[in-house]
Amino acid sequence: MFKSKIKWIKKSENEALILIALDGTFGSLPGQFFMLKSGDFPVTPRPFSVYFEDEIRGETLFLLKPRGLLTEEALSWQIGHELKLKGPLGNPIPVIEGANLVAGGSGYAPLHFYGSKYGYKNFYLGTTSKEEADFLNNLPNLKITCGPMVVTERFFQDNNEGAVIACGPTPMLQHLSEQYHGGSVYVSIEERMACGTGMCEGCAVKLKSGEIKFVCKDGPLFDGKEVDWQWLT
Ligand code: FES
Repeated sequence: MFKSKIKWIKKSENEALILIALDGTFGSLPGQFFMLKSGDFPVTPRPFSVYFEDEIRGETLFLLKPRGLLTEEALSWQIGHELKLKGPLGNPIPVIEGANLVAGGSGYAPLHFYGSKYGYKNFYLGTTSKEEADFLNNLPNLKITCGPMVVTERFFQDNNEGAVIACGPTPMLQHLSEQYHGGSVYVSIEERMACGTGMCEGCAVKLKSGEIKFVCKDGPLFDGKEVDWQWLT
């Protein structure tokens, strides 16, 4: 693991989302993640997808949703707080020309990085509160469709066609994979991870073929139509 310090922090009004910028760039690509650990905090590292890597400003951004021990502690972090990192891990999302992007909650992070770097056709974002939506919409970023409607409903209502790349809660990914017939569905699966390198076997995904894959080593992106969703949920 290596160390980096927080350069700046932004929080949504209801503190449901935190965006942090770490000092330095580490050669990551959209879809890749890092295992993060707070300096002295006695918990195992947790995986976080890269939100953006800014070569010009020399910083790497992560979007956190405070719900576990580490991210709850993140609410008290200040500029200069030291984090330990391992990564970049996982495989980058391949470039798919004109893909639609569908994100739920903190699943916005890898797709924000992807959309910023490679572009997209349409970008849909679902959040659980207005504060989260306002926070993400106010960040200097992309043209996204974000509203009160469930994100998949809005996506289907617009009669989209072409490939979809999605990241968010498992039920959202399953719904898109099973109900969308306008093109391929690629899903970036968020699993609990302990090692991030294929050693602990804690992030298994079963494919319909019966094959077992690991999110950290083989993913995090999978063909949604190949995933055995019954096994995963
Ligand atoms: Fe250990 Fe994937 S996190 S095998």
